Amino acid sequence: MSTPMDPSIDILISEVGPRDGLQNTKKIMSTDYKKRWIDAAVEAGLREIEVCSFVPPQLIAQMADASEVVAHALTLPGLNVAALAPNFKGAQRAMQAGVHKLTLTISVSTQHSLANVKMTPDEAILSAKKICAFRDSLPAGQRPIIESGLSTVFGCTLEGVVDEDAVVRMAVASVEAGCDEVGLADTTGYANPEQVRRVFRKVRQAIGDKLSGAHFHNTRGLGLANVVAALEVGVTTFDSSLGGLGGCPFAPGATGNIVTEDLVFMLESMGLKTGINMDKLLAIRELVAAGIPDEPLYGYVPLAGLTKGFVAASSRP
Ligand code: COA
Ligand code: ZN
Repeated sequence: MSTPMDPSIDILISEVGPRDGLQNTKKIMSTDYKKRWIDAAVEAGLREIEVCSFVPPQLIAQMADASEVVAHALTLPGLNVAALAPNFKGAQRAMQAGVHKLTLTISVSTQHSLANVKMTPDEAILSAKKICAFRDSLPAGQRPIIESGLSTVFGCTLEGVVDEDAVVRMAVASVEAGCDEVGLADTTGYANPEQVRRVFRKVRQAIGDKLSGAHFHNTRGLGLANVVAALEVGVTTFDSSLGGLGGCPFAPGATGNIVTEDLVFMLESMGLKTGINMDKLLAIRELVAAGIPDEPLYGYVPLAGLTKGFVAASSRP
């Protein structure tokens, strides 16, 4: 299991709001607001942000400014700049832009794979292999870490149950294709804690430390329960989205990611250091709300406030 690179934290939170969050909103956030959001997130202590996806702008207009957003993010010291790509062209664009980490979206379920990237899962693995070979041909210093972001791992709105052996096979195939890491995503919000423990264990048995993080959606309210289950089996990297924005436009009924504010509150209350300042994190909501007016933002802690006497684990020596 990969551990956070920074020894001062226990858990790495990868903010995916600017990508997973914005890919599903009705209104387009201006490039200026995206930059200010990323600045504020770094100021709050976030160390990794998935800042955009490299998709055809005619398909997802929100991501037309991807290269400009990456260029800005790269000016922020200490930030691990991540982006998502669905295919070879997107991966090339992302590498040209200079991302540190590139996540490839690879569905385990065939129907979601076809709907999302117009490839079967096997074709997506071949594409990953080509992308990794291209990455390896670049000069040292220009080669991003490549993560296979396995989607619909815990169930699919189009197909229903997803075979756990197929998940393991896709994880192994991703590593064989040259991916450095494999993350498991509950794209559709189908996962339950018992399943999370079981599937993470199975995949770790097959690929060991190449298993990286967990990406949960809160569609059925089990997001944080699934985080606790994943913590129990040694997962230390979690994706989440400010205000719980998010959802795959090609997975019918998918809603937002787990809420960064609630996740950080839970982990810090449990004594796990994220390095993130709660007050600064909560303040970002206002900025995001102004950047995409009328878009609902979720989260319990932002509404209820911090508990009286709350002391974040990160603020302890
Ligand atoms: N970035 C920019 N342009 C791209 C591109 C990319 N990543 N991939 C393809 N294009 C362009 C092609 O050059 C072509 O342009 P042209 O018409 O000017 O020649 C056009 O888009 C169509 O290309 P094609 O290869 O036929 O793509 P497609 O229509 O089969 O779509 C994907 C395939 C993968 C690009 C599309 O399904 C996709 O972007 N899916 C990702 C969806 C997503 O982000 N989901 C959320 C993540 S969970
Ligand atoms: Zn997602």
